[in-house]
Amino acid sequence: MKEIDQQVRDSIKSIINKRVVAMKAGETSHDDLLGILLDSNYKEIKECGNNKFGLSIDEVIEECKLFYFAGQETTGNMLVWTMILLGQHLEWQTRARQEVLHIFRDKKPDIDGLSHLKVINTIFNEVLRLYSPAVLLRRQIHEETKLGVVAIFLFYIIWRISNWLWIEPKRIEKFLKDQGLKGTSYRFMYGDLKEMVRMMNEAKSKPMNLTHDIAFRVSPFFHKSLNTLGKSCFTWMETSHDDLLDILLDSNYKEIKEHGNCNFGLSIDEVIEECKLFYFAGQETTGNMLVWTMILLGLYSEWQTRARQEVLHVFGDKNPDIDGLSHLKVISIIFREVLRLYSPAILLRRLIHEKTKLGNLTLPAGTLVQINTFILHHDKDMWGEDVNEFKPKRFSKGVSRVTKGKATYLPFGGGPRICIGKNFAILEAKMALAMILQYFSFELSPSYSHAPHAMPTLQPQLGAHLIMHKI
Ligand code: HEM
Repeated sequence: MKEIDQQVRDSIKSIINKRVVAMKAGETSHDDLLGILLDSNYKEIKECGNNKFGLSIDEVIEECKLFYFAGQETTGNMLVWTMILLGQHLEWQTRARQEVLHIFRDKKPDIDGLSHLKVINTIFNEVLRLYSPAVLLRRQIHEETKLGVVAIFLFYIIWRISNWLWIEPKRIEKFLKDQGLKGTSYRFMYGDLKEMVRMMNEAKSKPMNLTHDIAFRVSPFFHKSLNTLGKSCFTWMETSHDDLLDILLDSNYKEIKEHGNCNFGLSIDEVIEECKLFYFAGQETTGNMLVWTMILLGLYSEWQTRARQEVLHVFGDKNPDIDGLSHLKVISIIFREVLRLYSPAILLRRLIHEKTKLGNLTLPAGTLVQINTFILHHDKDMWGEDVNEFKPKRFSKGVSRVTKGKATYLPFGGGPRICIGKNFAILEAKMALAMILQYFSFELSPSYSHAPHAMPTLQPQLGAHLIMHKI
């Protein structure tokens, strides 16, 4: 699916790029949908003076996909159902044919003539009534809203965030019931979703008789709810989870709402970039730190033993818990030393946006300042003669004692853009290492070849060959 989506995107993008180039060269072509879209978008951006206005290329692609899907699937299905019904009701097929032959004879249909096809129109209307391709219409209500005529169905979308999980849905349930609406009782976390899926799977498992009473098969849950709760009722849907993406979307939505327009907050593409950043920044780095820790503890078995003693002292054979993790002092200094010698992020960069004084230097805008963390961590002048030795003890009195207050130890960067996952990463790595130490001892395999390589985080290029022994 992903590949197909990428191919569709790439091919639309290349068409758009060609059109944009042509448009900039003055060749406006607005004789198709894409042309009209690009042309009006280009005008909006030009009018407002910057490309925060109008649609981004990705938004144009989404619009194209939407038009394709909304226009193709739906019309295609309507035609298919029409053929099935006309195959079943031959008298209507005959009437439709008579009308077509009367208007066009054996000529190709033209636009003018199409508007005279009354029989076919009524057939389509009836097909759309019985087999409407779009089975649901939805609007999410963002603020308390009065509905003159109550809609057929009200969904309350459950945002699974903190206390919204229970208190808020229950409040809404009462609010709706007080107005005389009947609905299902809110069920923790999933609302009616599980029941909906179960009924849908059951309905899907067998075909039905050739009748047009299809609602119970197409929408079994809603069909049953309407029968039992009445035509105006409400039910519960789950669209969201209490994960990072939801928190991001929720706070973004609030920001946009606060400012009253979507020039604030993140665009969908920026949200995607944030997700990629979190995945990459959080996964690769912590994973590599753990791998280097295993290699070094495989090499320095005395530190492995000390670390295991500490873990067994704090947790015994029980699963580590958050409170206990903060008591793992030996493991803390081991991690610090691993992060010094084998810092997963080897570079920090800052782009200077305006003329800036840095010590005795004045740097012009556009300068990229790069700190090579890795080189800094291996600098003899900063760390002393034993700089290249694995000596976790150097950190036993804290980091600033060793660095003497200088910014020479930067595994997580520094300043306002310091790694926001710093504490989480250490906690996560402590948890993993503590569990490994409880169950295994390990040593470096003779087949291990030392090949630290930055691609782009520092990792063992030829793998981390370890021999594990179950304790
Ligand atoms: C041992 C593990 C990790 C290391 C060594 C590490 C290192 C870094 C470094 C060096 C930076 C750049 C800081 C700067 O430019 O000053 C950074 C940024 C970042 N890290 Fe981490 N990181 C780790 C784990 C994590 C985890 C677990 C997460 C998320 C759960 C995370 C999320 C981020 C994010 C979002 C940024 C960008 C912050 C910004 O630009 O404002 N990192 N990390």
